[in-house]
Amino acid sequence: MTEKSYQIAVIPGDGTGPEVTREAVKVLKAAGTRHGFGLDFTEYDLGARRYLRTGEILPASVLEELRGFDAILLGAIGHPDIAPGLLEKGILLQMRFDLDLYINLRPVKLFPGVECPLKDKGPEHIDYVVVRENTGDVYTGAGGVMMRGTPHEVAMQTAMYTRHQVDRCLRYAFEFARRRNRRKTLALVGKTNVLTYMYEMWERAFHEMGDRDYPDIKREYYHVDATCMWMIKNPEWFDVIVTGNMFGDIITDLAAITQGGLGIAAGGNINPDGVSMFEPMGGSAPKYAGQNVINPLAAICAGGMLLDTLGERVAAKTVEDAVIWTTANKVRNLAAGQMGYSTTEVGDLVATRVAG
Ligand code: IPM
Ligand code: MN
Repeated sequence: MTEKSYQIAVIPGDGTGPEVTREAVKVLKAAGTRHGFGLDFTEYDLGARRYLRTGEILPASVLEELRGFDAILLGAIGHPDIAPGLLEKGILLQMRFDLDLYINLRPVKLFPGVECPLKDKGPEHIDYVVVRENTGDVYTGAGGVMMRGTPHEVAMQTAMYTRHQVDRCLRYAFEFARRRNRRKTLALVGKTNVLTYMYEMWERAFHEMGDRDYPDIKREYYHVDATCMWMIKNPEWFDVIVTGNMFGDIITDLAAITQGGLGIAAGGNINPDGVSMFEPMGGSAPKYAGQNVINPLAAICAGGMLLDTLGERVAAKTVEDAVIWTTANKVRNLAAGQMGYSTTEVGDLVATRVAG
Protein backbone atom coordinates (compact mmCIF):
# COMPACT_ATOMS: atom_id res chain seq x y z
CA MET A 1 0.00 0.00 0.00
CA THR A 2 1.37 3.40 -0.88
CA GLU A 3 1.59 5.95 1.84
CA LYS A 4 -0.99 8.73 1.85
CA SER A 5 0.57 12.02 0.80
CA TYR A 6 -0.68 15.59 1.04
CA GLN A 7 0.22 18.44 -1.30
CA ILE A 8 0.90 21.60 0.67
CA ALA A 9 1.52 25.05 -0.81
CA VAL A 10 3.81 27.21 1.30
CA ILE A 11 3.78 30.99 1.01
CA PRO A 12 6.61 32.12 3.31
CA GLY A 13 5.99 35.78 2.40
CA ASP A 14 7.76 38.74 3.93
CA GLY A 15 9.88 39.72 6.92
CA THR A 16 10.05 36.91 9.45
CA GLY A 17 7.51 34.85 7.47
CA PRO A 18 10.15 32.59 5.86
CA GLU A 19 11.85 31.90 9.22
CA VAL A 20 8.65 30.84 10.97
CA THR A 21 7.25 28.79 8.09
CA ARG A 22 10.54 26.88 7.86
CA GLU A 23 10.06 25.71 11.46
CA ALA A 24 6.39 24.88 10.86
CA VAL A 25 7.37 22.75 7.85
CA LYS A 26 10.00 21.02 9.99
CA VAL A 27 7.37 20.11 12.58
CA LEU A 28 4.84 19.01 9.94
CA LYS A 29 7.42 16.66 8.43
CA ALA A 30 8.12 15.18 11.85
CA ALA A 31 4.38 14.67 12.38
CA GLY A 32 4.06 12.95 9.00
CA THR A 33 6.92 10.58 9.77
CA ARG A 34 5.50 9.76 13.19
CA HIS A 35 1.93 9.20 12.01
CA GLY A 36 2.59 7.60 8.66
CA PHE A 37 1.68 10.13 6.00
CA GLY A 38 3.71 12.07 3.49
CA LEU A 39 3.74 15.80 2.83
CA ASP A 40 4.97 17.45 -0.36
CA PHE A 41 5.70 21.15 -0.04
CA THR A 42 5.64 23.59 -2.96
CA GLU A 43 6.84 27.13 -2.32
CA TYR A 44 5.29 30.26 -3.80
CA ASP A 45 7.16 33.55 -3.63
CA LEU A 46 4.11 35.78 -3.17
CA GLY A 47 4.66 38.95 -1.17
CA ALA A 48 6.93 41.96 -1.29
CA ARG A 49 9.84 40.35 -3.13
CA ARG A 50 7.74 39.24 -6.06
CA TYR A 51 5.86 42.54 -6.13
CA LEU A 52 9.05 44.61 -6.14
CA ARG A 53 10.61 42.37 -8.78
CA THR A 54 7.69 41.88 -11.16
CA GLY A 55 4.84 44.14 -10.04
CA GLU A 56 2.66 41.06 -9.54
CA ILE A 57 0.61 40.66 -6.38
CA LEU A 58 -1.51 37.54 -6.82
CA PRO A 59 -1.38 36.36 -10.43
CA ALA A 60 -4.46 34.47 -11.64
CA SER A 61 -2.26 31.54 -12.66
CA VAL A 62 -0.95 31.18 -9.09
CA LEU A 63 -4.47 31.36 -7.71
CA GLU A 64 -5.49 28.57 -10.06
CA GLU A 65 -2.57 26.43 -8.95
CA LEU A 66 -3.37 27.05 -5.28
CA ARG A 67 -6.82 25.54 -5.79
CA GLY A 68 -5.17 22.22 -6.56
CA PHE A 69 -3.45 21.82 -3.16
CA ASP A 70 -4.72 20.04 -0.08
CA ALA A 71 -3.87 23.05 2.09
CA ILE A 72 -1.87 26.29 2.16
CA LEU A 73 0.54 27.46 4.84
CA LEU A 74 1.30 31.18 4.91
CA GLY A 75 3.99 33.03 6.87
CA ALA A 76 3.37 36.77 6.76
CA ILE A 77 2.56 39.47 4.23
CA GLY A 78 3.61 43.13 4.41
CA HIS A 79 6.73 45.21 3.84
CA PRO A 80 7.80 48.64 5.13
CA ASP A 81 8.63 49.88 1.60
CA ILE A 82 5.17 49.11 0.27
CA ALA A 83 2.03 51.12 1.02
CA PRO A 84 0.25 49.50 3.96
CA GLY A 85 -2.70 47.40 2.88
CA LEU A 86 -1.65 46.90 -0.74
CA LEU A 87 -0.25 43.40 -0.30
CA GLU A 88 -2.51 42.51 2.62
CA LYS A 89 -5.59 43.31 0.54
CA GLY A 90 -4.11 42.02 -2.69
CA ILE A 91 -3.02 38.67 -1.31
CA LEU A 92 -4.70 37.84 2.00
CA LEU A 93 -8.12 39.32 1.39
CA GLN A 94 -8.09 38.33 -2.28
CA MET A 95 -7.38 34.71 -1.39
CA ARG A 96 -10.24 34.81 1.12
CA PHE A 97 -12.66 35.96 -1.57
CA ASP A 98 -11.38 33.99 -4.55
CA LEU A 99 -10.88 30.69 -2.71
CA ASP A 100 -14.07 31.39 -0.73
CA LEU A 101 -12.31 30.91 2.62
CA TYR A 102 -15.49 31.84 4.42
CA ILE A 103 -14.48 30.78 7.92
CA ASN A 104 -11.74 32.40 9.97
CA LEU A 105 -11.09 29.97 12.79
CA ARG A 106 -9.23 31.29 15.80
CA PRO A 107 -8.57 28.97 18.74
CA VAL A 108 -7.95 30.99 21.89
CA LYS A 109 -6.08 28.79 24.30
CA LEU A 110 -3.66 29.78 27.03
CA PHE A 111 -0.93 27.17 27.13
CA PRO A 112 0.74 26.27 30.44
CA GLY A 113 3.82 28.34 31.17
CA VAL A 114 2.69 31.23 28.97
CA GLU A 115 2.37 34.52 30.78
CA CYS A 116 -1.18 35.85 30.72
CA PRO A 117 -1.85 39.57 31.10
CA LEU A 118 -5.15 38.84 32.89
CA LYS A 119 -5.07 38.78 36.68
CA ASP A 120 -5.78 35.38 38.25
CA LYS A 121 -6.43 33.63 34.95
CA GLY A 122 -4.72 30.43 33.88
CA PRO A 123 -5.03 27.75 31.19
CA GLU A 124 -8.19 26.45 32.88
CA HIS A 125 -9.91 29.79 32.18
CA ILE A 126 -8.87 30.56 28.63
CA ASP A 127 -9.85 27.88 26.15
CA TYR A 128 -12.39 28.85 23.53
CA VAL A 129 -12.69 29.25 19.78
CA VAL A 130 -13.85 32.19 17.69
CA VAL A 131 -15.53 31.41 14.38
CA ARG A 132 -15.26 34.66 12.42
CA GLU A 133 -17.17 34.98 9.15
CA ASN A 134 -14.46 35.77 6.61
CA THR A 135 -15.99 37.05 3.36
CA GLY A 136 -18.80 39.53 4.10
CA ASP A 137 -19.50 42.61 6.20
CA VAL A 138 -17.53 45.82 5.52
CA TYR A 139 -14.81 43.68 3.96
CA THR A 140 -16.70 43.33 0.67
CA GLY A 141 -15.45 46.83 -0.19
CA ALA A 142 -18.88 48.20 -1.10
CA GLY A 143 -18.94 51.95 -0.78
CA GLY A 144 -17.29 55.00 -2.18
CA VAL A 145 -16.27 58.58 -1.77
CA MET A 146 -18.01 61.51 -3.32
CA MET A 147 -16.93 65.15 -3.58
CA ARG A 148 -13.54 64.02 -2.43
CA GLY A 149 -11.31 66.77 -1.07
CA THR A 150 -14.15 69.24 -0.71
CA PRO A 151 -15.76 70.32 2.58
CA HIS A 152 -18.81 68.30 1.51
CA GLU A 153 -16.89 65.07 1.02
CA VAL A 154 -18.97 61.94 1.71
CA ALA A 155 -17.42 58.58 2.56
CA MET A 156 -19.48 55.40 2.73
CA GLN A 157 -18.39 51.87 3.50
CA THR A 158 -21.23 49.45 3.66
CA ALA A 159 -21.60 46.46 5.94
CA MET A 160 -23.59 43.72 4.26
CA TYR A 161 -24.48 40.09 4.70
CA THR A 162 -26.43 37.67 2.60
CA ARG A 163 -28.49 35.03 4.37
CA HIS A 164 -26.44 32.43 2.51
CA GLN A 165 -23.19 33.77 4.01
CA VAL A 166 -24.71 33.88 7.49
CA ASP A 167 -26.22 30.40 7.27
CA ARG A 168 -23.08 28.66 6.08
CA CYS A 169 -21.02 30.33 8.80
CA LEU A 170 -23.54 29.42 11.51
CA ARG A 171 -23.67 25.85 10.20
CA TYR A 172 -19.91 25.55 10.55
CA ALA A 173 -20.00 27.04 14.07
CA PHE A 174 -22.79 24.74 15.31
CA GLU A 175 -21.02 21.70 13.86
CA PHE A 176 -17.77 22.86 15.43
CA ALA A 177 -19.38 23.26 18.87
CA ARG A 178 -20.81 19.76 18.55
CA ARG A 179 -17.52 18.19 17.49
CA ARG A 180 -15.58 20.08 20.14
CA ASN A 181 -17.95 18.53 22.66
CA ARG A 182 -16.99 20.60 25.68
CA ARG A 183 -19.68 22.90 27.04
CA LYS A 184 -21.65 22.53 23.80
CA THR A 185 -22.38 26.24 23.86
CA LEU A 186 -22.39 28.57 20.88
CA ALA A 187 -22.40 32.32 21.57
CA LEU A 188 -23.45 34.71 18.84
CA VAL A 189 -21.62 38.02 19.15
CA GLY A 190 -23.34 40.97 17.46
CA LYS A 191 -24.81 44.38 18.00
CA THR A 192 -28.54 43.87 17.63
CA ASN A 193 -29.30 47.10 19.48
CA VAL A 194 -27.74 49.29 16.76
CA LEU A 195 -27.11 47.12 13.68
CA THR A 196 -30.79 46.30 13.75
CA TYR A 197 -30.91 44.97 10.20
CA MET A 198 -27.74 42.99 9.89
CA TYR A 199 -27.41 41.35 13.28
CA GLU A 200 -31.17 40.91 13.53
CA MET A 201 -30.80 38.63 10.51
CA TRP A 202 -27.88 36.84 12.15
CA GLU A 203 -29.85 36.35 15.36
CA ARG A 204 -32.94 35.07 13.55
CA ALA A 205 -30.87 32.68 11.45
CA PHE A 206 -29.00 31.56 14.58
CA HIS A 207 -32.16 30.58 16.45
CA GLU A 208 -33.87 29.07 13.43
CA MET A 209 -30.93 26.81 12.73
CA GLY A 210 -30.40 26.02 16.41
CA ASP A 211 -34.06 25.10 16.99
CA ARG A 212 -34.21 23.00 13.85
CA ASP A 213 -30.88 21.18 13.77
CA TYR A 214 -28.91 21.66 16.99
CA PRO A 215 -31.13 21.14 20.04
CA ASP A 216 -28.06 19.71 21.82
CA ILE A 217 -26.15 23.00 21.53
CA LYS A 218 -26.91 25.73 24.07
CA ARG A 219 -27.26 29.20 22.53
CA GLU A 220 -26.12 32.51 23.99
CA TYR A 221 -26.03 36.04 22.64
CA TYR A 222 -23.66 38.88 23.58
CA HIS A 223 -23.25 42.39 22.24
CA VAL A 224 -19.74 42.89 20.88
CA ASP A 225 -18.86 45.72 23.29
CA ALA A 226 -19.88 43.64 26.30
CA THR A 227 -17.96 40.69 24.86
CA CYS A 228 -14.76 42.75 25.07
CA MET A 229 -15.32 43.14 28.79
CA TRP A 230 -16.17 39.48 29.43
CA MET A 231 -13.20 38.24 27.42
CA ILE A 232 -11.04 40.04 29.98
CA LYS A 233 -13.06 39.47 33.12
CA ASN A 234 -14.66 36.06 32.55
CA PRO A 235 -13.03 34.33 29.56
CA GLU A 236 -14.05 30.99 31.09
CA TRP A 237 -17.64 31.74 30.05
CA PHE A 238 -16.83 31.09 26.41
CA ASP A 239 -16.75 27.84 24.49
CA VAL A 240 -17.42 28.66 20.82
CA ILE A 241 -18.16 32.20 19.61
CA VAL A 242 -19.55 33.01 16.17
CA THR A 243 -19.57 36.53 14.75
CA GLY A 244 -19.31 38.70 11.64
CA ASN A 245 -16.13 39.67 9.87
CA MET A 246 -15.41 43.11 11.37
CA PHE A 247 -16.26 42.28 14.98
CA GLY A 248 -14.39 39.01 14.55
CA ASP A 249 -11.28 40.84 13.36
CA ILE A 250 -11.29 43.04 16.46
CA ILE A 251 -12.16 40.53 19.15
CA THR A 252 -9.66 37.95 17.90
CA ASP A 253 -6.78 40.38 18.40
CA LEU A 254 -8.06 41.06 21.90
CA ALA A 255 -8.33 37.32 22.43
CA ALA A 256 -4.81 36.76 21.07
CA ILE A 257 -3.27 38.97 23.72
CA THR A 258 -5.03 37.01 26.47
CA GLN A 259 -3.44 33.79 25.21
CA GLY A 260 0.08 35.25 25.17
CA GLY A 261 0.07 37.38 22.05
CA LEU A 262 1.18 37.05 18.47
CA GLY A 263 4.02 34.66 19.24
CA ILE A 264 1.50 31.90 19.83
CA ALA A 265 -1.81 32.83 18.13
CA ALA A 266 -2.69 31.00 14.92
CA GLY A 267 -5.64 31.06 12.60
CA GLY A 268 -7.22 29.16 9.76
CA ASN A 269 -8.93 30.64 6.71
CA ILE A 270 -11.18 27.75 5.88
CA ASN A 271 -13.27 26.62 2.96
CA PRO A 272 -14.85 23.44 4.33
CA ASP A 273 -15.35 22.14 0.77
CA GLY A 274 -12.09 23.30 -0.76
CA VAL A 275 -8.54 24.31 -0.02
CA SER A 276 -7.88 26.16 3.27
CA MET A 277 -5.07 28.46 4.35
CA PHE A 278 -3.38 28.58 7.74
CA GLU A 279 -1.26 31.37 9.18
CA PRO A 280 0.30 32.73 12.35
CA MET A 281 -1.55 35.85 13.45
CA GLY A 282 1.58 37.96 13.80
CA GLY A 283 2.73 40.17 10.98
CA SER A 284 6.00 40.23 9.10
CA ALA A 285 7.88 41.92 12.01
CA PRO A 286 10.49 43.49 9.68
CA LYS A 287 12.74 44.66 12.50
CA TYR A 288 13.38 41.04 13.53
CA ALA A 289 13.69 39.61 10.02
CA GLY A 290 16.73 37.48 9.29
CA GLN A 291 17.95 37.36 12.90
CA ASN A 292 16.67 33.93 13.92
CA VAL A 293 15.01 35.43 17.01
CA ILE A 294 11.31 35.42 16.11
CA ASN A 295 8.99 32.96 17.81
CA PRO A 296 7.85 30.22 15.42
CA LEU A 297 5.26 28.68 17.78
CA ALA A 298 2.32 30.51 16.18
CA ALA A 299 3.31 29.20 12.73
CA ILE A 300 3.77 25.73 14.23
CA CYS A 301 0.28 25.95 15.76
CA ALA A 302 -1.03 26.98 12.33
CA GLY A 303 0.57 23.80 11.00
CA GLY A 304 -1.26 21.83 13.69
CA MET A 305 -4.57 23.36 12.61
CA LEU A 306 -3.73 22.48 9.01
CA LEU A 307 -3.31 18.82 9.99
CA ASP A 308 -6.59 18.87 11.89
CA THR A 309 -8.43 20.23 8.87
CA LEU A 310 -6.86 17.58 6.63
CA GLY A 311 -8.42 15.04 8.98
CA GLU A 312 -5.10 14.09 10.60
CA ARG A 313 -6.56 14.65 14.05
CA VAL A 314 -4.12 12.50 15.98
CA ALA A 315 -1.13 14.16 14.35
CA ALA A 316 -2.64 17.58 15.07
CA LYS A 317 -2.96 16.62 18.72
CA THR A 318 0.67 15.46 18.76
CA VAL A 319 1.73 18.89 17.49
CA GLU A 320 -0.37 20.73 20.04
CA ASP A 321 0.90 18.53 22.87
CA ALA A 322 4.48 19.21 21.77
CA VAL A 323 3.85 22.97 21.77
CA ILE A 324 2.30 22.70 25.23
CA TRP A 325 5.33 20.75 26.44
CA THR A 326 7.58 23.44 24.96
CA THR A 327 5.80 26.38 26.62
CA ALA A 328 5.48 24.53 29.92
CA ASN A 329 9.11 23.44 30.09
CA LYS A 330 11.28 25.55 27.79
CA VAL A 331 10.06 28.70 26.08
CA ARG A 332 8.30 30.71 28.75
CA ASN A 333 8.84 34.15 27.30
CA LEU A 334 7.27 34.26 23.86
CA ALA A 335 8.66 37.65 22.80
CA ALA A 336 11.09 37.88 19.90
CA GLY A 337 14.66 37.92 21.15
CA GLN A 338 13.63 36.98 24.69
CA MET A 339 12.82 33.32 24.26
CA GLY A 340 16.16 32.05 25.48
CA TYR A 341 16.32 30.05 22.25
CA SER A 342 16.69 30.92 18.59
CA THR A 343 13.85 30.45 16.09
CA THR A 344 15.52 27.30 14.77
CA GLU A 345 16.08 25.89 18.25
CA VAL A 346 12.42 26.33 19.17
CA GLY A 347 11.47 24.51 15.96
CA ASP A 348 13.90 21.73 16.85
CA LEU A 349 12.48 21.41 20.37
CA VAL A 350 8.95 20.94 19.05
CA ALA A 351 9.95 18.72 16.13
CA THR A 352 11.98 16.42 18.37
CA ARG A 353 9.08 16.13 20.77
CA VAL A 354 6.69 15.39 17.88
CA ALA A 355 9.04 12.71 16.55
CA GLY A 356 8.59 10.93 19.91
C1 IPM B 1 -6.46 39.58 9.99
C2 IPM B 1 -5.83 40.85 9.49
C3 IPM B 1 -6.45 41.24 8.15
C4 IPM B 1 -7.93 41.49 8.38
C5 IPM B 1 -5.79 42.44 7.47
C6 IPM B 1 -4.29 42.24 7.30
C7 IPM B 1 -6.40 42.78 6.15
O1 IPM B 1 -5.94 41.87 10.41
O2 IPM B 1 -6.30 38.54 9.35
O3 IPM B 1 -7.11 39.60 11.03
O4 IPM B 1 -8.34 42.61 8.69
O5 IPM B 1 -8.70 40.55 8.27
MN1 MN C 1 -6.94 41.32 12.22
